[in-house]
Amino acid sequence: MNEVVRMRADETPRTREPETLPARAYWAEEYWKLDREAIWARTWVLAAGVDDFTRVGDYVTATVAGTPVLVVRGEDGLRAFHNVCRHRASPLVLAECGHVDKLTCPYHSWRYGFDGTLLNAPAMNIDKKDYGLFRLRCETWRGLVFVCLSDDTPPLAEWMAEVSAAALRYPLEEMHLARKLSLEAEINWKTYADNYAEGWHVPTIHPGLNATLDMASYRVETSGLVLQTHSARARDGGMTDGLWVWRLPGLFLNMYKWGMSVEQVEPLGPRRLKLNYRYFFSDAERAEECDEILKWSVGVAKEDIAICERVQKNLEAGVYDRGRLSLVFENGVIQFQQMVQAAYRRN
Ligand code: FES
Ligand SMILES: [Fe+2]
Repeated sequence: MNEVVRMRADETPRTREPETLPARAYWAEEYWKLDREAIWARTWVLAAGVDDFTRVGDYVTATVAGTPVLVVRGEDGLRAFHNVCRHRASPLVLAECGHVDKLTCPYHSWRYGFDGTLLNAPAMNIDKKDYGLFRLRCETWRGLVFVCLSDDTPPLAEWMAEVSAAALRYPLEEMHLARKLSLEAEINWKTYADNYAEGWHVPTIHPGLNATLDMASYRVETSGLVLQTHSARARDGGMTDGLWVWRLPGLFLNMYKWGMSVEQVEPLGPRRLKLNYRYFFSDAERAEECDEILKWSVGVAKEDIAICERVQKNLEAGVYDRGRLSLVFENGVIQFQQMVQAAYRRN
């Protein structure tokens, strides 16, 4: 029995533990389609930082709900579009980020303004106003740029209201962005989310993190189907206490004494995801410790990725279908899976 179980076994309620999602939900194409349509197309997704755009023509690309998108700075601010030319569907820009003087398709040179208007379509007698770029919503929150495919999702400030309240004592604007990094893994995004949703595995999977945290104080609080906060005190002499705020489905704010990391899950397919991290530090001196903290933090992330990849393989192997979830330690997993099921039902 690990430490957490020992400490909290007496809290076990008698209510029946819910079943997990079926294994198919973690790899089958029909569930990937459902995830894209019912969940990812209806959520705000962190795509860039305001700092990524210093000049008119600076752009960033991302994948939202499996769809390539681009954010570009125009004369009058940031605009987001599907990264697809209206002629024969070539992506307009190919790099992760960069600068263009004009938004010219690399295939047959249709040219668009930064507001998405089609300006030039060589050898075509078409009405250009019918072939502007497909526009997306694009809003900012505390220096972070989000995009959303749906017109029905609430404005970003409203969508982030509970995050703003939970992260109040962490002044993101006063921190500086020290590093950006991405990790890719062969994991369905829900396998990753299930794992994030509980701290039960910290003693077994993260011995280093476990040594710094007082796991008896680890708590997961859920709010509706939108927010989860995890908190734990530092062990005596430990390098970190922690507050982890998760805006479902895939935005994580990992807050520590030294600053915070903002993590966005970018699902790339039924079995593949990318994790995009932005590390913010509280003050200039702390930045010198950046490498050490980053190494520690990436080490913890890789421990999660390793267990998730092992779980993913077994979810696909065809033996296991559904397990059961603990009401004591997996309240966060239960909330996450309820959100998924509610979204599937709504779709
Ligand atoms: S696909 Fe863009 S110009 Fe042909
Ligand atoms: Fe973990």
